[in-house]
Amino acid sequence: MTKSVVLADPRGFCAGVDRAILTVQTILKAAQSAGKLHREDGLPPVYVRRQIVHNKHVVEDLANQGAVFVQELGEVPDAAAQAGIPVVFSAHGVSPVVKAEAERRGMHVVDATCPLVGKVHREVLRFVKEGYEIVYIGHKGHDEAVGVVGESPEHVHLIEHADDVTSLEFAPDTKLVLLSQTTLSVDETADTIAALKARFPWIEEPPSSDICYATSNRQAAVKLVAEQSDCVVIVGSANSSNSVRLMEVAQEGLGQRGKAYRVDDAGELAPAWFDGVESVGISSGASVPDELVSGVIEALRDLGFTGVKSVETIKENMHFVLPPQVRALAK
Ligand code: F3S
Repeated sequence: MTKSVVLADPRGFCAGVDRAILTVQTILKAAQSAGKLHREDGLPPVYVRRQIVHNKHVVEDLANQGAVFVQELGEVPDAAAQAGIPVVFSAHGVSPVVKAEAERRGMHVVDATCPLVGKVHREVLRFVKEGYEIVYIGHKGHDEAVGVVGESPEHVHLIEHADDVTSLEFAPDTKLVLLSQTTLSVDETADTIAALKARFPWIEEPPSSDICYATSNRQAAVKLVAEQSDCVVIVGSANSSNSVRLMEVAQEGLGQRGKAYRVDDAGELAPAWFDGVESVGISSGASVPDELVSGVIEALRDLGFTGVKSVETIKENMHFVLPPQVRALAK
């Protein structure tokens, strides 16, 4: 029997990641056309706050093209604002404190926050204005969660799992609503929501789920792939929430039959993982360029997995327009 790989479709880039990367690329290209990629004042053509998307290869690639990545705005010199150097906010969004600092320092901000993350920020503001307390299901310390909680730290109560529900206390007349990070596991979040509803039966949900289309589509596809595989490899970085969730969903689908692994690229594959394996499922997180998946497929071909079949669950055609300043540059 031919040993084969089973490819999940959809996988890889989502519309928000595409938009964020294209934002930085367009700024770099415009700087190059204007002969300002290497400036006399030594400043870079663009600063990016945090990893534009959670993938080390994407970040390295943009850094090699001239983008400078910083953790905090404090690392951006005042001279950059005076020289009109753009500062890009990553796809995961920022808290109002960060926006205020940028404004105070006169920075030229280009906000590449994914519009679907922006939707959750707006929900926080709307519900707080209407007098709600918000239970936010998310991962402590993740850039997206930090930004959303930052909209109203006193009214947004972050929990990670169903077990955390017992730590919450609200009087029965409290207006309560639940929101969530966009990249959670659909199944795990359903358990947490069930626990919340059991303890606070009056808790409300937003009109549509905050878990984004790309997250749900990739999880649905990898579930099917896991059913048809003896082990699964997810391509994605360790700090990519949706990649780690994909690995968990794949492991759940495999059960005792096999193991799910996460790698940044083909270089991290260990041949021993595939001893006795007939079919390897493959998917990738929303921030992963497809050439990294191709690299994994090639490495597996060298290990004897010559057949390739694709499992498609849905066709995606989502697209987000670029931030306005970048649209102007692209013209
Ligand atoms: Fe946006 Fe979802 Fe991608 S929130 S950045 S479309 S994973």
